[in-house]
Amino acid sequence: MDRIAQRTLVRSDLSLSEIGCGAASLGNLYRPVADAEARATLDAALAAGMTYVDTAPRYGHGLSERRVGDVLRGRDGIVLSSKVGRLFCADPALAGDAARHGFRSPMPFEARYDYSYDGVMRSWEDSLQRLGLGRIDILYVHDIGGMTHADEHDRTFAELTKGGGLRALEVLRADGAIGAFGLGVNECDVVLQAMNYADLDVVLLAGRYTLLEQGALDALLPACERRGVSIVVGGAYNSGILATGTRRDGPIYYDYGAAPPDIVDHVRWLEALCDRHAVPLAAAALQFPLAHPQVVSVIPGLGSVGRVQQTMDLYHQAIPADFWRDLRAVGLVDVAAPLPGGA
Ligand SMILES: NC(=O)c1ccc[n+]([C@@H]2O[C@H](COP(=O)([O-])OP(=O)(O)OC[C@H]3O[C@@H](n4cnc5c(N)ncnc54)[C@H](OP(=O)(O)O)[C@@H]3O)[C@@H](O)[C@H]2O)c1
Repeated sequence: MDRIAQRTLVRSDLSLSEIGCGAASLGNLYRPVADAEARATLDAALAAGMTYVDTAPRYGHGLSERRVGDVLRGRDGIVLSSKVGRLFCADPALAGDAARHGFRSPMPFEARYDYSYDGVMRSWEDSLQRLGLGRIDILYVHDIGGMTHADEHDRTFAELTKGGGLRALEVLRADGAIGAFGLGVNECDVVLQAMNYADLDVVLLAGRYTLLEQGALDALLPACERRGVSIVVGGAYNSGILATGTRRDGPIYYDYGAAPPDIVDHVRWLEALCDRHAVPLAAAALQFPLAHPQVVSVIPGLGSVGRVQQTMDLYHQAIPADFWRDLRAVGLVDVAAPLPGGA
């Protein structure tokens, strides 16, 4: 069996496998995944040594949580995170699995945002019911921030702070109902903002600390270091481009859309360096964030057994120290970014 190293959160004793399972794919993100394939995927991830699984009510309007709960029930030693901030209401008019909000899920529910005290408590209780589990270890406030809420950001952020959403999470943590909480977002600024209102334990940061971009080094990661906030890295492939590369006929994705030319150019430079060292781009992308001491886990989305095996191969891929040194020397990563193996 392949083993995966464990890392412990700074502010709690929760220990996560440094490669975890992102379960958005199991909510039928972009394409349907059969129930049997979903179960086999999770079984394979756990068998490979992944002891951390991340899901959310949003992933398939509840489908991912149902599938994850059915596999985790009765198993010990797995750390599970889910998210709060959206409540789901049944709508009998919804039928079939046409794509809604990116998910091909047949679950007949539509979300509304609620970051208030009562909203967070209900979201947590709803998740427990969907999961069929007695406990969620980590709760993230999902998609708070200007990237999702634009003009509504001030209002939704006030709901989280003055409206008691963060207080609800503090109550759950103080009662021991959850082990840790933080935000699950694709942007840095809102995390810095939220740190002024609560002691966060862990932040799921998607797409903002990757082989392609390290803006989080400027302010967010130093602040996390000072406060002992751990980071889980989502979006390590920046929505696809760092997994697929640029040399393909199909679309090249960055940040949930078509990759702009400057990003494609940057990745071409990365590919050229990877070629010189015979390193798969996706392996470098998966391993790079783990060099940062605040990062406890990187969680690729796993939607098939094949993707689990491929992820393990990328994780175990030997990458020469010269590759990392050259990466820095030619200015393809921030000089302040820690590199694997202390290169
Ligand atoms: N706000 C939040 O809290 C937030 C935001 C984003 C993500 N997350 C978490 O992070 C997890 C990972 O999300 P992600 O955005 O990084 O998505 P991902 O599923 O890891 O990767 C993004 C894209 O890269 C493609 N890809 C991945 N590995 C590949 C490979 N080896 N070869 C070719 N293509 C590959 C995927 O294609 P396939 O679809 O074919 O696999 C997908 O289209 C999610 O499941 C979720 O748990 C959280």
